[in-house]
Amino acid sequence: MHPSRHRYDVLVVGGGIIGLVTAWRAAQRGLRTAVADPAPGGGAAHVAAGMLAAVTELQYGEQTLLDLNLASARRYPSFAAELEDATGLGLGYRPCGTLAVALDADDRAGLRELHTFQMSLGLESEWLSGRECRRLEPMLAPGVRGGLRVDGDHQVDPRRLAAALLRAAELAGVTFHRDSVARVETVRDRATGAVLDDGTVIGAEQLVLAAGSRSGCLPGIPDHALPPVRPVKGQILRLRVPPGYAPFLSRTVRAVVRGGHVYLVPRENGELVVGATSEELGWDTAITAGGVYELLRDAHELVPGLTELPLVETLAGLRPGSPDNAPLLGRSALPGLLLATGHHRNGVLLTPVTGDIMAEVLTTGSVPESARPFSPARFSLQEQPA
Ligand code: GLY
Repeated sequence: MHPSRHRYDVLVVGGGIIGLVTAWRAAQRGLRTAVADPAPGGGAAHVAAGMLAAVTELQYGEQTLLDLNLASARRYPSFAAELEDATGLGLGYRPCGTLAVALDADDRAGLRELHTFQMSLGLESEWLSGRECRRLEPMLAPGVRGGLRVDGDHQVDPRRLAAALLRAAELAGVTFHRDSVARVETVRDRATGAVLDDGTVIGAEQLVLAAGSRSGCLPGIPDHALPPVRPVKGQILRLRVPPGYAPFLSRTVRAVVRGGHVYLVPRENGELVVGATSEELGWDTAITAGGVYELLRDAHELVPGLTELPLVETLAGLRPGSPDNAPLLGRSALPGLLLATGHHRNGVLLTPVTGDIMAEVLTTGSVPESARPFSPARFSLQEQPA
């Protein structure tokens, strides 16, 4: 065995919001916990808009994921209050609702279908005429043909969420190793720790791989235990509504424009986030003229007045995509290694329940009922009966 300069009950690989919430919850349960990450509090959350859009981002065939998304959305108010109490830091949680609108007849037909699907699942979503949409949000384009009012889809500021989780984890006694993990260590087919880029060896009873889009390629993990996670690029813009400007939007507004999704997330501090592209380009994080153009073109069709606003930031990030768009939570095929990754479009939304689930697995060894469908084992090759 390697000599360990450090030894913990739990080592979390990755200090994004999923790694941080896991570490915080583990430490609260009395586990000696460390996080390895060169820049904890960064990751995909630094780019994300922070929509908590369980109902408006519903996709056909993802009803199982919907249950987890809804459970996490319900958990948000108490989670945000607990985190704010623990740290004194606000999260920018806004129960503001969402309006999904259609700009032409095709979009309207698609939105009608989505509404029927939502109704069949008992979700709260109200169909509005174009006039009713504009009464709610006067900055919308006059051509809006109708929309869905979803009062239960809210927002949080992911950067503030990450900062609060980092602080909460520190206050709970989590140790931070501000370096990258070079490789996971195994002894007799069991994960026993990790070696950092600077050569530091860290031993741990249990490792949690929460490295976002990089989770699928961490050295030292045997192929059969590596999660099938890939990077999915998203470009996003931040505009600023100047102080004193009339309220621009009061809730999240989104639309499908020519088949692409565009959303506008207005924060109380005047920030207006416009997102997002979804591109299968591997590790590329270039901000492209085409990406920025498409976002501004579609957002301008939705809310023409936004071209007057200062453009303050353009960013690209990598969502951790999984084959079924749902996270991998729980034990991996390598004993000692747990996974909390593959959250794809729902990392911010799923942060509260991910923390609860991972704390349960780490302390009791058993996976809560709600998390069973998200076991990493669903992607293992099964022997088919003859
Ligand atoms: N959930 C929004 C996005 O991934 O773009």
